[in-house]
Amino acid sequence: MSFPKQRSGSRCRVCGGPVSEFFDFGRQPLSDAFHEQPPADELFFRLAVGNCSWCTMVQLMEEVPRDRMFHAGYPYLSSGSAVMRDHFGKVAGRFLETELTGPNPFVVELGCNDGVMLRTIAEAGVRHLGVEPSGGVADLAAAKGVRVRKSFFEEQVATEILAQDGPADVIYAANTLCHIPYLGSILRGVDALLAPDGVFVFEDPYFSDIVERASFDQIYDEHFYLFTVRSVQAAARPYGLELVDVERLPVHGGEVRYTLARAGGRRLAPAVAELLAEEHERRLTEAETLAGFGSRVEGIRERLVTLLRELKAKGKRVAGYGATAKSATVLNYCGIGPDLIPYITDTTKAKQGTKTPGSHIPVLGPEAFRDPYPDYAVLFAWNHAAEIMEKEVGFAGVGGEWITYVPDVRVV
Ligand code: SAH
Ligand code: TMP
Ligand code: ZN
Repeated sequence: MSFPKQRSGSRCRVCGGPVSEFFDFGRQPLSDAFHEQPPADELFFRLAVGNCSWCTMVQLMEEVPRDRMFHAGYPYLSSGSAVMRDHFGKVAGRFLETELTGPNPFVVELGCNDGVMLRTIAEAGVRHLGVEPSGGVADLAAAKGVRVRKSFFEEQVATEILAQDGPADVIYAANTLCHIPYLGSILRGVDALLAPDGVFVFEDPYFSDIVERASFDQIYDEHFYLFTVRSVQAAARPYGLELVDVERLPVHGGEVRYTLARAGGRRLAPAVAELLAEEHERRLTEAETLAGFGSRVEGIRERLVTLLRELKAKGKRVAGYGATAKSATVLNYCGIGPDLIPYITDTTKAKQGTKTPGSHIPVLGPEAFRDPYPDYAVLFAWNHAAEIMEKEVGFAGVGGEWITYVPDVRVV
């Protein structure tokens, strides 16, 4: 079934300016729709990206309704990686030492998922609230002692939280803001809920890293926006919010942590102007750069499919590692199915025993990876490469080889 179109059309979801499309991945399923038996009317939409000629925001051309993606069965678990558990423990620690030192401080997290960050805040006895629409993961957070409200954050919810709990010293969101097309409602909500000297901090994949590494699989239904410093600064300004700091992060293949405060309220860190200048220098959202990105993506598809066909012809056994949401874009764009990759292993219980969206490759538990080891493994969870390669040293030990596809197809 084709998606009941809810097009953002050619107008920017942030400023209303004209959006020009620069790459089309074609028909794609919902990236986290893992089914035991894929339904006959499996949902598809056209995954294409464009950039706004006024505010430069990079965004999807079509919008998937939020409750098709985020619901009780949403399978992604933030605590699934040791590196990310450590990362979010440090985020919590830093807030506790810096922004949350006044009397009776209050922190709100949008998209707290299974409580990976807020558990540390809860353990410290600090007032907090996680706002999480996906019921299953919200329950996991609650089981860790995190106070959760099961809803989508938006303006109305922000005013309700304000009435109940008072203003927030910190509003935080990791890998969540880029998932939310209705950014205006979010920023009005932040404006309502944030204490006069509070901060809104969020971290998301950085478009500059995506272009640099040709990591096209960061583009899928849930990643509606691909932020840059310039576009975030422009988006925040009309709501009286100022971008006061930026920090590059190594996680998830390269992210930026943005800190927003009320305009004029805080000193501007030099990093903002520095990264803005770098984006300008790189001509990040100019037509030539975006066309170059598209050509690289096409080349990767060509080389990856050729390699997998050659390995199959030679009778080599190939598996996938990590049934990531990102892998949906790779598999469906490249037309890779169980004929080329017979199974993918993943640690997420809810994904095991299912088939990948659109491409219908069986997902097995991590023990299947060792029983027996394949000859080659396509590393779909490449953002967790260091952690995985360390865990799977035995694979290299028997002569197994990893296949990666960003920034290019390589066998290592
Ligand atoms: N912060 C976690 C989770 C990222 S996944 C991490 O970094 O690992 C994105 C999460 O955002 C999902 O759990 C999803 O349910 C949630 N989400 C989606 N729309 C939201 C909204 N409007 N308000 C709050 N959370 C939202
Ligand atoms: P992510 O790239 O969106 O964080 O998703 C990572 C996926 O990879 C998730 O489904 C869990 C899976 N995974 C493993 O199977 N093994 C691992 O060691 C790690 C870190 C993740
Ligand atoms: Zn715009």
